[in-house]
Amino acid sequence: MRNIINILDLSVEEINELIRTADDMMENPDRYREVCRHKILATLFFEPSTRTRLSFESAMLSLGGQVLGFSEAGSSSAAKGESISDTVEVVSGYSDIIVMRHPKEGAPLVASMHSTVPIINAGDGGHYHPTQTLADLLTIHHEKGRFENLTVGLCGDLKFGRTVHSLIEAMSRYSGVRFVLISPEELKLPSFIKEEYLDGKGIEYQESTSLDAVMGDLDILYMTRVQKERFFNEEDYLRLKDTYILTTDKMKLARPDMIVMHPLPRVNEISTAVDKDPRACYFRQTYYGKMMRMALIMMLLEVTV
Ligand code: NCD
Repeated sequence: MRNIINILDLSVEEINELIRTADDMMENPDRYREVCRHKILATLFFEPSTRTRLSFESAMLSLGGQVLGFSEAGSSSAAKGESISDTVEVVSGYSDIIVMRHPKEGAPLVASMHSTVPIINAGDGGHYHPTQTLADLLTIHHEKGRFENLTVGLCGDLKFGRTVHSLIEAMSRYSGVRFVLISPEELKLPSFIKEEYLDGKGIEYQESTSLDAVMGDLDILYMTRVQKERFFNEEDYLRLKDTYILTTDKMKLARPDMIVMHPLPRVNEISTAVDKDPRACYFRQTYYGKMMRMALIMMLLEVTV
């Protein structure tokens, strides 16, 4: 039985296989309509979500399976003080696969030690978010046609942004990838990522507080929101939240083939006028996310067409 707690739980070859399956699903959706019949996916969301939870539910329903779960800690027994291990012990008796989001780093890993069914981490605090990375990788595959030799700009909250951490881990396995880390001083990439995946692997990167200064160098601009819920102090959040706002004027500084990605939800960091720019990929990215989640569910449940 396999769990996906970190994107590196999947090898490069397995990611390629998920991409092949997702591509086939887009071309031949009918072949996949019943493959998870009688299988149940449980979503345990102790933290708010729209896309991730609904895309997992939609993914399982599109595979012919069924879904159950809760979407906030307040409506589960967590509100009565139940431990994660007890919740998971029970829910693994009710389902074939569990998707879990939790505000505490490491919670899905703990869950996986008490589960008899596969656990997928759908975001643990300021740590990781591996299935968002699967969405990001399919987007890059379709929009850029390769993972190698890309300059990837990551902009916004690099400290708490778990999608950024997982994407760096995943992209650090491809040759010729260079990162440009764009953030205010207070929201720089944490050392647990920098030391292990950048310095540790000898990967080229540059840090900048200015988006304009580096815009023209990028193949990919990955924008993120400032993670309000992880701040201890509202004043700091208010001061930092609008540091970077991508506008149509700023897009003029970018290469004609640069793509803009964002895990969503967007707050202010991308002006809605940018949505019409063909380089804006963030809504396509959500569709790719569903496809990769379908492929991942099939892989973990060991079902084939
Ligand atoms: C992200 C998350 O939850 O980390 N959202 C998502 O799953 N697409 C990004 C965010 O909340 O900013």
